[in-house]
Amino acid sequence: MVKIYAIDSDKERYIPISLDTLVTGTQIPFEIYTYDGTIYKSLLDKGATYSYFAKVMIEKQALSNFYIRQRNALSFNEYMQNAGKLKSMLLDPSFFEFKYKEFKEKWFIIDKKIINTAIPFKLAIGGLRFPIFGEIPFTVDNEISYKNMLELNSDIAVRKRDIDAYYNYLDKLLDTQEIDDPLIKLRVRREKLKVWCYKIYEEISNHSLSQDTLLKLYKHINLLIGLIRSNFDMAGKLLFFEPSDVYLYIHSTNVSLMSMMHGHVINKDDNYLLTLGISAILHDVGRMVIDDDAREDSYDKINRNIYKSHVLKGKELLEPYNDIPPIAKTVALTHHEREDGSGYPYGLTGDKIHPFAKIIALSDTFENKRVSYYDHPTIKRTQILKEMTQDLQLYDAIMLKDFLKFVANLSL
Ligand SMILES: [Fe+2]
Ligand SMILES: [Fe+2]
Repeated sequence: MVKIYAIDSDKERYIPISLDTLVTGTQIPFEIYTYDGTIYKSLLDKGATYSYFAKVMIEKQALSNFYIRQRNALSFNEYMQNAGKLKSMLLDPSFFEFKYKEFKEKWFIIDKKIINTAIPFKLAIGGLRFPIFGEIPFTVDNEISYKNMLELNSDIAVRKRDIDAYYNYLDKLLDTQEIDDPLIKLRVRREKLKVWCYKIYEEISNHSLSQDTLLKLYKHINLLIGLIRSNFDMAGKLLFFEPSDVYLYIHSTNVSLMSMMHGHVINKDDNYLLTLGISAILHDVGRMVIDDDAREDSYDKINRNIYKSHVLKGKELLEPYNDIPPIAKTVALTHHEREDGSGYPYGLTGDKIHPFAKIIALSDTFENKRVSYYDHPTIKRTQILKEMTQDLQLYDAIMLKDFLKFVANLSL
């Protein structure tokens, strides 16, 4: 449902319009109504974004008659005069890039599969996958709206300012008796770790890490260690999400889970896993303070070097905190070092690289490759493992062998 209908009872006149004339991704400066034969129902608020998401929602409800109020005719005309210009602007890739950045800044990507109608979800939801931008009021409190949301080919996000409310929602999901699917509970735990990962990144990059946040992060990593140990088979299902998991807090959460699973299969104890998990969460914190556009595989050397500087920045950011394990600082600095000396920043080889940095490098490489493929999870996994085998000189031989074996055996 696009919005909860507010039924309009006054007798003001309405003018029919066609939704085809609206440009997706734009804000609508007038309210839009639908008419069901007896009453006019408000469908989109003035100022709401007519996102692709909203468009699909409307189509799914098979609505066909749309109106604006007569008093909005002027703003409608003005909007229509600009529609052509807006359309061409929306086709401009730099505009999309800008929008994407704006989206990334304001929204937190959630795991839409955990939303459950047993507990109504009342937060504003936004989506992003071309050409979906912006938010629409969206309530997931019945099976149809839930199904509609799942079917949308989009990331679903909540506003960052609503993150605590989202966290409360996660708590409710864990508390309720109505959900007994252990996989959902596991995914909710993963979501909670994601939230703490997001929070710790924000605080560290603002040089204001609180002890409370660090303790919470420890607590949730500990809980996940317990779950990995007791549900190992199921934990594999946590590692294969949508290809859009490019957001730093998702990347780090996945790398952390995967590294801890690796630690579990090579029989390491809880303390080892905890330090490994926290080091993995923090490994890329330096990326918070480098230019977002910098890429490791960029053709431009300057750009590549900016990306590479994230390891030094990461170490710098973590350095002042005595409560952060020294190993985590080492990992932030050395997780791009490679066995044969081809890595950075120092070109360290073999034994000069900390074992944690080696384990995390494997999960990190896997995760980075995973999000760059759009295939089916199983094909994707086979392909990635094959590529990593071909690059065997980059990794510690025993660790690579254990890693390949455990990932190949995961049930997806
Ligand atoms: Fe990195
Ligand atoms: Fe990474």
